[in-house]
Amino acid sequence: MAEIGKDIAKAKAILEAGGLVGIPTETVYGLAANALDAEAVAKIFEVKNRPEFDPLIIHVSSMQQVVKYTEGIHPILESLGTIFWPGPLTLLLPRKSIIPDLVTSGLDHVAVRVPQHPLTLGLLANLDFPLAAPSANPFGYISPTTAAHVDDQLGDMIPYVLDGGNSEVGLESTIIGLEEEQITIYRLGGVDVGDIEKIVGPVTIMSHSSSNPKSPGMLKSHYAPRKKVILGDIAKNLGVYKNEKIGILSFTSQYTGGQESFVLSERGSYAEAAKNLFTALRFLDQADVSLILAELLPEENLGRAINDRLRRASVK
Ligand code: TXA
Ligand code: MG
Repeated sequence: MAEIGKDIAKAKAILEAGGLVGIPTETVYGLAANALDAEAVAKIFEVKNRPEFDPLIIHVSSMQQVVKYTEGIHPILESLGTIFWPGPLTLLLPRKSIIPDLVTSGLDHVAVRVPQHPLTLGLLANLDFPLAAPSANPFGYISPTTAAHVDDQLGDMIPYVLDGGNSEVGLESTIIGLEEEQITIYRLGGVDVGDIEKIVGPVTIMSHSSSNPKSPGMLKSHYAPRKKVILGDIAKNLGVYKNEKIGILSFTSQYTGGQESFVLSERGSYAEAAKNLFTALRFLDQADVSLILAELLPEENLGRAINDRLRRASVK
């Protein structure tokens, strides 16, 4: 078990000594280390069992910090940072050599974000290095949105989790970069693509693959519970799988006929659904069911990012 608390000084001391700390953000909890210390960063890969070809996001306290670690920021990306930071947006920027190869998996761009959480912003303001932090889950599993989730899965391997309550957004950050002057989305996330297009015009959305060198971590199968997730019409699938113990994950409607069920947002709020998604997947994965039946949301607003996670959770 890790110690769980709100002690920024304690978190700072562990990080300065090259250790790992679970940190709250508005998207999901992160597993943080000193991003400038390759040995500390190596522990992240070890604890998460994460392949080293999957690069990490560095977290800084403000836009002013970005110049220390990157070779400049294109005006379009800067305008997005100005509008959405602190918040669920990550920018891919040309890196300075002070960032270890391990952080970027040797790529020439580093992923940077200013998270929106008072405890983590307070911690970052007290450190003289950025924090490299992937989501604080074993590689490929559901991302954590509470300190207890982090402790459940990684508690034996890390000394401390800063407890910042429930992650308000519940989905990882939207990752954006420039590809030949074209704004490109590498991961759908907490900032809705529509809100980005209102500012920069139409964007390109990169689909996931296991071989795309620009976004090596965008694997098709990810965020996956241990149980099988079947996507589709729940009412119909309840008939098809009637001999199984069923867990149901629905958007607004309550279905009967399953052993357990979780409605993401009765009032049809995408933000509420996003906030509940990983908790719901975790709950159904731990429940006494053999199969999870889930439905896609409308492909609009944060529904797109939620559907991205559901699709990847359903690939084994
Ligand atoms: O909301 C978030 O982004 C959370 C919180 C903790 O900040 N972090 C997070 O990290 O989701 P992680 O490691 O689970 O996902 C980061 C993704 C990876 O899929 C990785 O491939 C991509 O960001 N990424 C990181 N650096 C990159 C780079 N230099 N080029 C392309 N993709 C990169
Ligand atoms: Mg992750």
